[in-house]
Amino acid sequence: MIWETDENTIWLDPFDAFFSINLIPAPQKSVCEIGVYKGGFLMVLLENLPHLQALAVDPYPNSENIKSIFIHNIKAKKLESRVRLLENYDSLSDQKFDLVHIDGEHSEVAVLSDLQFATHNLSSKGIVVIDDIWHPLFPGIVSATMKVIHQGTLAPFLISRNKMYLCKPSEYNHHYNSARSLLKLTEIPYSSGISEGSDILGSKSTYSQANSINGFNQLVVGNINKFQQSLILGLENPVKLSSAREIFKQITPPIFVKILRKSAAAYRSR
Ligand SMILES: C[S@@+](CC[C@H](N)C(=O)[O-])C[C@H]1O[C@@H](n2cnc3c(N)ncnc32)[C@H](O)[C@@H]1O
Repeated sequence: MIWETDENTIWLDPFDAFFSINLIPAPQKSVCEIGVYKGGFLMVLLENLPHLQALAVDPYPNSENIKSIFIHNIKAKKLESRVRLLENYDSLSDQKFDLVHIDGEHSEVAVLSDLQFATHNLSSKGIVVIDDIWHPLFPGIVSATMKVIHQGTLAPFLISRNKMYLCKPSEYNHHYNSARSLLKLTEIPYSSGISEGSDILGSKSTYSQANSINGFNQLVVGNINKFQQSLILGLENPVKLSSAREIFKQITPPIFVKILRKSAAAYRSR
């Protein structure tokens, strides 16, 4: 996978780039991203899928400078002929997309509207990817998404640290099975609730149980950091750990962490 670790991909997990690139249905013609920012997600997709055309939707409210950075970035990578930038999707009633990434305004009303657009404009085997699904500051994202799932218009099949992957209910089995094969093949840790429970989420369950939403079972990817994700994917430019704490956790055996924590606590309570 072509991957750069820079300020553009700061919000993107390598696993999510990998899933989007590999689960978008062939012949991977068109992607729409709602909420583009500096173009991190979009550029990773375009660089890895040479026939992909992108529609970028972002009004850049009060952030003309970010818009200029996006335009500069796609020109620097010679991608401008494959990208169309619009302020909204109102004029796009009939265009179909193989993947729609929803990462714009994070309110419940906006996400609901984005989901309705995505559902209407999805190619038959297309997928919808929702960002920040569990973000504690934006509960409207999960609320809007669950509403659409329970209306029966979209079916969720894969959940990562930050994103949820959905498709048309008629295509659920196809996408669930493709994602499951991809996880197994690449040895990405995951849990599926029923009979494939693992301890990767830090809670090995003592019994199998459905993790389905509205009857659709979920593949839940292990909650591991970007550095570990890079190692599993064998990226040439692994994501660097952002804080000293993360680096420390990475290189220090757990037993020493315990001892050091104890000493620190003892020191503080003097
Ligand atoms: C979190 S950033 C997107 C990050 C980007 N997807 C990436 O991978 O780097 C959110 C973006 O949503 C845009 N935004 C805000 N309101 C929007 C709206 N109503 N429609 C679409 N985009 C919007 C912001 O301008 C901002 O660029």
